[in-house]
Amino acid sequence: MKYNRKYLGVALRLMQRGSLYRHVMGFIIQKGLTIREADEADKLKVDLWINPKGYISKAGHQNQNVTEFVAYCFGYLAGRVQLVRYSSENRPYSGYWLWGLAVKSQFKGGGIGEKLSQEVILKASTEGSKTLDLLVFNNNVPALQLYRKLGFVHYVIPGLEEQLQAQPTQNGHRHVVMRKLIGHFQ
Ligand SMILES: CC(C)(COP(=O)(O)OP(=O)(O)OC[C@H]1O[C@@H](n2cnc3c(N)ncnc32)[C@H](O)[C@@H]1OP(=O)(O)O)[C@@H](O)C(=O)NCCC(=O)NCCS
Repeated sequence: MKYNRKYLGVALRLMQRGSLYRHVMGFIIQKGLTIREADEADKLKVDLWINPKGYISKAGHQNQNVTEFVAYCFGYLAGRVQLVRYSSENRPYSGYWLWGLAVKSQFKGGGIGEKLSQEVILKASTEGSKTLDLLVFNNNVPALQLYRKLGFVHYVIPGLEEQLQAQPTQNGHRHVVMRKLIGHFQ
């Protein structure tokens, strides 16, 4: 049973790479897709999904510098993303950042990640930010492809680059920063 699930997962991931699968899934998913700013109930659902066995703290839910968006597909929670606003006191993290983009496995490949990211880009742009940054592992092909498609490019933030280089790597891979110019540069 455990192996069946593992092989099904691998097969699903392989299919999700194919453009035909993404085209068909996109057509189906878009019919039932709703994206909105998360309310308290949505945030609790996201916590249970991301951290099913962990301690749920509602403290972060009230943070005015964080806006969370959730995606529902035919009524089921399908994905989430956060827009985080850092002040200059948080250097080297300052400005607008896209954090925590995730789509549930069964909904991947249907355009949800792209739509959620676009919500963050739009919100940051509406608030007048000229840039949007994010961190991504340099071997995370689906995420890298998605961010490139949306116009993000690799970017080095000097103070942060030293921290990232000092972090332990995962199988030789590390986080990199990507930045998108937004606002009137769009
Ligand atoms: C990265 C992630 C959010 C993408 O979400 P998604 O809903 O599956 O992506 P979308 O269907 O919106 O795809 C948009 C674009 O991303 C790229 N992409 C998505 N899945 C891909 C895959 N398996 N292989 C290659 N490119 C892929 C493509 O460019 C795609 O555009 P296209 O369909 O026109 O070719 C999702 O794979 C995920 O949750 N991954 C685990 C968490 C994670 O890595 N988050 C990013 C942290 S920085």
